[in-house]
Amino acid sequence: MIIDFSPLELKYRYKIMSRSIIPRPIAWIVTEGKTLNIAPFSYFMALSSNPPTLIVSIGHKKDGTQKDTLKNILQTKKCTICSVTPDQITQMHASSESLPEEVSEAEAFGIATKRIVEDFPPIITDSPSAFFCELNQVVDLSGSKTIPLIVEIKKYYIADNYFDPNYNFELDLVARVGREYRLCNKKIEP
Ligand SMILES: Cc1cc2nc3c(=O)[nH]c(=O)nc-3n(C[C@H](O)[C@H](O)[C@H](O)COP(=O)(O)O)c2cc1C
Repeated sequence: MIIDFSPLELKYRYKIMSRSIIPRPIAWIVTEGKTLNIAPFSYFMALSSNPPTLIVSIGHKKDGTQKDTLKNILQTKKCTICSVTPDQITQMHASSESLPEEVSEAEAFGIATKRIVEDFPPIITDSPSAFFCELNQVVDLSGSKTIPLIVEIKKYYIADNYFDPNYNFELDLVARVGREYRLCNKKIEP
């Protein structure tokens, strides 16, 4: 069966893409604006190692205004992208609630944060790794309200108990398949 995408309802496009492009890593993004903002995004992917770049697509709120994460990154040009472990799923999922801009998800959901790099937003304390990123470019999808942002990795944090001098560390992180959450670190041989 061939499915034509252009007449397809948005919800079915999402279903097809989110069940075919798997797993989708979760970017748990910390930004600074009116307050400290935390939200998860799974239209997120590594783009290139040179320059070290990631891409994340951020939509708008139901009222048509920019999501706080998008607004903050466009203003400050910075974000800290934290990883998500199974123990953090409840807090990560809760932080996707659309709160008013002046309400911090960190406070609303008791998410502990810690500033470890002076010029970047803090990390989520329990995340074992995080990327400190600067905005590289904003992609225009023909005027779409979904705005892909290319961000460049400037620094990386890895918790000491995971660090390996040869960088052969393994993180047990949560990813998304459809709307479900899964652990995707099962090794198979070619
Ligand atoms: C696991 C997960 C992944 C998500 N991925 C995206 C995404 O890729 N793009 C997007 O615009 N919203 C995504 N959302 C919804 C945002 O997290 C949600 O709109 C949030 O309220 C945005 O917060 P903000 O306004 O503080 O930036 C996702 C939600 C969850 C739970």
